[in-house]
Amino acid sequence: MSISKKIKASLSGSSMIRKMFEEGIALKKKHGEDKVYDFSLGNPNVDHPEAFKRELIKVADQEIKLKHGYTPNAGYPETRLAVARKISRTTGLKMTADHIVMSCGAGGALNVILKALLDPGDEVIILTPFFVEYPFYIENYDGVVKYVSTRPDFSPDIAAIGRAITRKTKAVIINSPNNPTGKVYSQKSIKDLARLFRKKGRERKRPIYLIADEPYSEIVFDGVKVPSILKAYSNSIIAYSYSKTLSLPGERIGYIAVHPRIHEADDLMAALILCTRILGFVNAPALMQRIVTHLQNVSVDVKIYQKKRDLLCGGLAAAGYEFARPEGAFYLFVKSPIPDDAAFVHRLLQENILVVPGRGFGCPGYFRIAFCVEDSTIVNSLEGFARAIQDCRPKKVSRRARLGSSA
Ligand SMILES: Cc1ncc(COP(=O)(O)O)c(C=O)c1O
Repeated sequence: MSISKKIKASLSGSSMIRKMFEEGIALKKKHGEDKVYDFSLGNPNVDHPEAFKRELIKVADQEIKLKHGYTPNAGYPETRLAVARKISRTTGLKMTADHIVMSCGAGGALNVILKALLDPGDEVIILTPFFVEYPFYIENYDGVVKYVSTRPDFSPDIAAIGRAITRKTKAVIINSPNNPTGKVYSQKSIKDLARLFRKKGRERKRPIYLIADEPYSEIVFDGVKVPSILKAYSNSIIAYSYSKTLSLPGERIGYIAVHPRIHEADDLMAALILCTRILGFVNAPALMQRIVTHLQNVSVDVKIYQKKRDLLCGGLAAAGYEFARPEGAFYLFVKSPIPDDAAFVHRLLQENILVVPGRGFGCPGYFRIAFCVEDSTIVNSLEGFARAIQDCRPKKVSRRARLGSSA
């Protein structure tokens, strides 16, 4: 075999999410779609907003020169301006089109940012549990992944992050609202992180970049607000995506937003634009750029996800499961009733329920439910969830059986 050793190793440790997804396909073939409760993938099932369709039709009908041509590597100036204006409105910062690079979703944005920042051996801190692709993204550019556990409520452990920072730390990636926990980091957490990074930056005479991966920033429940990273810390970079806000993950559109006063801003912007080109993205999809220009204040109906969260949390709490109620995104991270999360996930498979073991996110002892599914999938799965936890409870032994066994 002549493929790279690094990729070969990655293939053998292949993503648990994908494995569950494949199990799901096999189960659906055997039992039928409606008898399988597939909570394995974060693929939004809520329809995109009507406004997206209107813009799509409008752009398709418009006479535009080079409509499908290459765009500037950073994206169309008017799209970048629309994004900058929206961020200026929400943060009060003076953002211009020069602080924005359009990207192929948050995944594309993160790869461009890491390619622009990392020298081989540079360390990047990620918080456990983490989005499964982060280690791959960091290792793509010969960076070294440093894992730091979050606190029991999944908030950042500032002291532990402080201990993990070394002279080689280049960046820290955070993700709020979080996949897989649904946690939204508080204003205090963000301020504490910013204070820590400023202090460490001064000590080392070298900045620590805070990369905020924010594909779920609009998907929040009960009026929760996502605190602005840009307002808190000047060496911050946002990786944003329309994949979840507009339910468009297959269309690959997002952006990178850089703080106007970030360290060596001009060099960094030039690097981000170059990396967009040389990583092979060349530019974010042209049609999608034109469409999102006019959809800066549009999002899917978040109440639909909130209802799904409530259905799921209500059903699982009644069955005896333990979890922190998600404040955003569409994931529930549940404590496995037995220490071996993979064994419990296997038990759920017998109920035709597909979830992902916590160890896939660097956090054994839990499992993740992606609740971007039909309400009926949630409702119809609850009996199976209840049977599975019931099975794990110590069985009550009757007095007669106890006497019998001691005889
Ligand atoms: C935390 C997180 N970051 C990044 C991504 C990648 O999103 P995109 O489709 O925008 O590349 C996802 C997708 O599920 C995600 O959950």
